[in-house]
Amino acid sequence: MRNVHVDLGLKSYEIEIERGLLPRLGRKIKTLLPKAEKAAVITDSNVGPLYASVLKKSLEKEGIAVTVLTFKAGEESKNLQTLGTLYDGLAEAGLTRSDAVIALGGGVTGDMGGLAAATFLRGVAFIQIPSSLLATVDSSVGGKVAVDLPSGKNLVGAFYQPKAVYIDPDLLKTLPVRYLHDGLAEVIKYGCIRDRDLFVTLENIQNDAELLNRADEIIETCCNIKARIVEQDEFDNGERMLLNFGHTLGHAVEKTFHFDRYSHGEGVSIGMVLLTRQSEKLGLTEYGTADRIAALLQKFQLPVNVKMRQDDFLRAIALDKKKRGSSLTLILLKKIGDSFLQKVAFSNLPDFLPGK
Ligand SMILES: NC(=O)c1ccc[n+]([C@@H]2O[C@H](COP(=O)([O-])OP(=O)(O)OC[C@H]3O[C@@H](n4cnc5c(N)ncnc54)[C@H](O)[C@@H]3O)[C@@H](O)[C@H]2O)c1
Ligand SMILES: [Zn+2]
Repeated sequence: MRNVHVDLGLKSYEIEIERGLLPRLGRKIKTLLPKAEKAAVITDSNVGPLYASVLKKSLEKEGIAVTVLTFKAGEESKNLQTLGTLYDGLAEAGLTRSDAVIALGGGVTGDMGGLAAATFLRGVAFIQIPSSLLATVDSSVGGKVAVDLPSGKNLVGAFYQPKAVYIDPDLLKTLPVRYLHDGLAEVIKYGCIRDRDLFVTLENIQNDAELLNRADEIIETCCNIKARIVEQDEFDNGERMLLNFGHTLGHAVEKTFHFDRYSHGEGVSIGMVLLTRQSEKLGLTEYGTADRIAALLQKFQLPVNVKMRQDDFLRAIALDKKKRGSSLTLILLKKIGDSFLQKVAFSNLPDFLPGK
């Protein structure tokens, strides 16, 4: 068993990583929340049929009554309407504040289940069981929960920490390969911003099977990095921004292609490489870094370039919610494993974007 402690004072929690954990979670959850008599398992239409019944049985064995609430898989479901149906389900199940909401699924499930938990009855104990690589290394840790609005992603949300995160890497065996690579883009991001050793480990992994074999240690490393950053900056006013490496350009790519050509991880993949090429040109990044990142991403079929003009980037970035005033903060690398925040005036932004 691998354990990562997230130290947030009274809101501290454990991330437990172990293969074969899912069927044993009933006992763990009963121990963690001894007063819980009911649990609502929120899951999506892909993950639910694969794993919800195992979890349900395990909880029922401990005397916890379980209601499974399943929504249609996909980012399109991460909205107020689906959230509304979840609230109805929680109310119908008769959940009280001493009961538990359990998110079983990818980042969409965790974000939306977390927001439901944060707001139903003004807050019910929340547990994350992430099932996508992205969710295990990123979205399940740190307490950001949200749904999308038609006008933008994650615009309605909260900071609401889970009581525990339980990761069973065996669940990744059924994850479609495109999503595995999508999450891997974020793993590579952690290597870039904080951990040269992780980056080298990934360079030495030859294929997906090997990646899945080493998932436990990779997930632990990433959770440790994220936990330390979140501990420093729970509410995302400073250091937590480092996690946005590649994201400003990546969001611009996702948005320009209407969120249907490139997934989030693919956008980030392109963003990390294009930004690093520019920062190399500006003499801010060690020479050769962009090529090295690109080679690693391409080994896992991630894209590292895009047909977009500088104007397309500028237009999309101008609409980004993270923009503050007349400048924005970009995350740049000194070299692999070493990142810093760089405030950039909008007038200088073209220097950091691929040419016309
Ligand atoms: N809260 C945060 O800090 C944070 C950070 C990063 C991303 N996010 C959010 O995370 C979301 C993306 O997460 P995601 O990529 O996990 O999306 P997702 O939840 O849609 O999962 C991706 C796909 O994989 C399927 N799936 C997941 N686990 C599976 C498994 N074990 N077996 C078979 N299929 C499985 C899902 O059904 C879905 O079709 C976005 O909404 C993003 O905004 C949040
Ligand atoms: Zn991301």
